[in-house]
Amino acid sequence: MNPEKIETAFSLMREAISTLQQSLGTSFFDAYIENTENLVDNAKVRVLDQQPDEATVAKVEAIYQELLSLELGKEDWRKLTQLLLLKGSKDENLQPNHQLTPDSIGFLFVFLIEQLTLKKEQPLEILDITVGMGNLLLTILINLQAANYSVNGVGVDNDETLLAIAASDSLLMGEMVKLFHQDSLQDLLVDPVDYVIGDLPVGYYPNDQQAKKFTTHSEKEHSFAHHLLLEQAMNYVKPAGFGLFLVPSNFLETEQGPLLQKWLKKDVLLQGIIQLPDELFKSEHSRKSILLLQKTGETAEQAEKVLLVHLPSLKDPSQVTEFFKKFEDWKSSNL
Ligand SMILES: C[S@@+](CC[C@H](N)C(=O)[O-])C[C@H]1O[C@@H](n2cnc3c(N)ncnc32)[C@H](O)[C@@H]1O
Repeated sequence: MNPEKIETAFSLMREAISTLQQSLGTSFFDAYIENTENLVDNAKVRVLDQQPDEATVAKVEAIYQELLSLELGKEDWRKLTQLLLLKGSKDENLQPNHQLTPDSIGFLFVFLIEQLTLKKEQPLEILDITVGMGNLLLTILINLQAANYSVNGVGVDNDETLLAIAASDSLLMGEMVKLFHQDSLQDLLVDPVDYVIGDLPVGYYPNDQQAKKFTTHSEKEHSFAHHLLLEQAMNYVKPAGFGLFLVPSNFLETEQGPLLQKWLKKDVLLQGIIQLPDELFKSEHSRKSILLLQKTGETAEQAEKVLLVHLPSLKDPSQVTEFFKKFEDWKSSNL
């Protein structure tokens, strides 16, 4: 990827989005979706009730021609959309539970899936239970395809705007992702997958009646949404398939931690916890880990040693390589 090309494309996209935003009087995110849908629709600006006006249409379509002349590849488009969405999320003060998962973390998921996949030639089904704007799922799909895997993606989210971003970005990158707009804690119309993933929202789930269907529900207060989502996600994994989740690092130490432990002993195997570098998070409280779960059945067995690592940095390549080596060693003697 050529950084100068991405920089030029970033300025062009910013200009197109802000021109549409001003002309249509919408939020950044609505203008972002409009812009992406226009690009997908042969780089033609959609006009409804004479909006936007002719001058805006001409200006934005000229920008699109410049953009297309850059001949961006799939991963270039993904990087570009990530940068635009990160900037937009900051400007719009998007709440942390809605923010996209940066590819520094997404690439770790790619590595883990590659390591855990035994038969490369079989198509992999990957479900993101809280797909949001789709950056995590698209990072995984595009980079696994680049490594010659055949992958199909499915995503679920209950936020219409975020899901519309995921839908339009998938089309822009030529990815056929099946997306469902619903509460992931209701029944899903999804066949069991090889991998389920999620950068889970942290907080309470308000629907106590529905929460009662899960082992991890609390009788005393609203249940933790991320606990229920873990449990629900693992319901849609094939026997011996894996779940990879971004969760708060203190997930076992909270007052509802014992409820989660009760479930962990029942239907799934806790195979590993990878604590992400502190440098990625603003405070101790917001630190996250990748939780590696495996569904019971078939060849799945509890690892003799649960993988417990703290990755010191993602900026220092030697430390990342050391982690890769540690994971490979752990995998060959434990899975
Ligand atoms: C941290 S974001 C996920 C970011 C995503 N990985 C990405 O790269 O854009 C968490 C997502 O969980 C979604 N969410 C929260 N509660 C949900 C629920 N009950 N069902 C479905 N999605 C939910 C939010 O709408 C949000 O998009």
